[in-house]
Amino acid sequence: MNFQLSEEHLMIRQAARDFAQNECKSGVIERDNKQEHPTELVKKMGELGFMGMMVSPEYGGGGMDTASYVLAMEEISKVDASCSVIMSVQNSLVNWGLETFGSEAQKNKYLPKLAAGEMIGAFCLSEPEAGSDATQQRTTAVDMGDHYLLNGTKNWITNGGKAGVYLVIAHTDKEKKHRGINALIVDRDMPGVVVGNKEDKLGIRGSDTHVIMFNDVKVPKENRIGEDGFGFKFAMKTLDGGRIGIASQALGIASGAYELALAYSKERKTFGKPIHNHQAIQFKLADMAMEIEAARLLCMKAAYLKDQHEPYGQAAAMAKLFCSEVAMKTTVEAVQVHGGYGFVKEYHVERLMRDAKITQIYEGTSEIQRLVIARSILK
Ligand code: CAA
Repeated sequence: MNFQLSEEHLMIRQAARDFAQNECKSGVIERDNKQEHPTELVKKMGELGFMGMMVSPEYGGGGMDTASYVLAMEEISKVDASCSVIMSVQNSLVNWGLETFGSEAQKNKYLPKLAAGEMIGAFCLSEPEAGSDATQQRTTAVDMGDHYLLNGTKNWITNGGKAGVYLVIAHTDKEKKHRGINALIVDRDMPGVVVGNKEDKLGIRGSDTHVIMFNDVKVPKENRIGEDGFGFKFAMKTLDGGRIGIASQALGIASGAYELALAYSKERKTFGKPIHNHQAIQFKLADMAMEIEAARLLCMKAAYLKDQHEPYGQAAAMAKLFCSEVAMKTTVEAVQVHGGYGFVKEYHVERLMRDAKITQIYEGTSEIQRLVIARSILK
C-alpha cells in the first residue's frame, strides 16, 4: 500500500492550488454577494485543462485519473466552491457520461468543446417531484419515429443558464417504469428549450442554477445515449462518479475552512496569548484535522477503485456522505474559532459554511447515500 502521491499528482495539485489562490480568491466574496457567474475563471479552467481532466486525449482531454481530479477539486473548492461545482458537473456528469456511454459520433461532436471549456454542459435529472426518487420522471420523450418529442420541466440545474448542451433524463414508456427512461442530448439552441428562473441560493452563489423547460423539443433519435430504456441506469452510473466529485468538493470546503481557522488561531490573542494555546481551540483543530484526513482517504479510496475499474458505487456514497458531513461540521467550527469575525463576510468562513450545506443535498442527499450504502452491504 502506498499513500505517496506521484510527481504528476503533485504537479496537478500545485497547478490547481496556484489557480485557486492567484485567480479565484480575489473576487470570490464579490461574486458570492452578487451571485455573479465566474465566466472568465471557467474559461481559464478550460485553458488549464480542468474542464476535461479525465477525457481521453483522443477527444481533446487531459487523460488524467480520478485521483488527479480529486486533488484539483479539493484545491479549487478550498477557495471557490462555485467554480468547483461547475467543474464537477462538467467532468463527472457530462463528460464522463458522454465518453463512457455515448456513440462515437456523439463523443466527436461534443467532447472536444466540453473538454476545452468552450462549451458548458448540464445534467437534467431533478424535477419538482423527482429529486431523491429519480424514477418518478414527469418529463416525457415520446417516440415519434425519427425523433423524440420532449416535454417537461427540470429543477435546480447546475450550469443551467450557461450550458450549450443538456443531458436530459425523460420517460418514454411509463408502463416500463425505470426501464422506460431515456437519456437525451439536447442542444441549447433546439427550438423549445427555455431557460427559466435563476435560483437565489444560500451557498455556491456564483454557480448558475436554473429551472429548464422543454416545450415540444424535437430531439433526433441519434441524440439518445445508449439503448432504448438505458436512461435510468445511465443516470445512476453517472451519479456514482459524480459523488466522488462532490465528495472532493466537500473535502475542499472543509480543508479551506480548517486552514483559515488554523491561521487565525495563531494570530488572534485572548487572555494574553494566541488562541491556539487554549485547549478549547486545540481540541477543535485536532478534530478538524483528523476528520479531514479521514475524509481525504475515503475520497481517494473511491477514486482509486474507479481508476482500477473495480466497483466503486458504495465507496463513492461513503465518501460523499462522510465528506459532506465533515464539511458542515468543520465550517461551523471554523466560524466558532473566528468568533465574531467568523460571522462577517471578509473572513471567508461564513461563505464556506453556507457552501458546505449543498454538499449534503445535491447528487443525492445524505439519506440517499445511506440508502445506497445499506443496499450495497446488505445485498
Ligand atoms: N449503477 C447501475 N445500476 C443501478 C445503480 C447504479 N449505481 N443504482 C440502481 N441501478 C439499477 C438497479 O440495478 C435496477 O436495475 P434493474 O431494473 O436491472 O434491476 C434499477 O437501476 C432500479 O434500481 P433501484 O430499484 O435500486 O432504484 P430506486 O428507485 O430504488 O432508486 C436510488 C435508487 C439510489 C434511490 C436513486 O433513485 C437515486 O440515486 N436517487 C438520488 C438521485 C440523485 O442523486 N439526484 C441528484 C440530481 S443530479 C444533481 O444534483 C446534479 C447537480 O446539478 C449538481
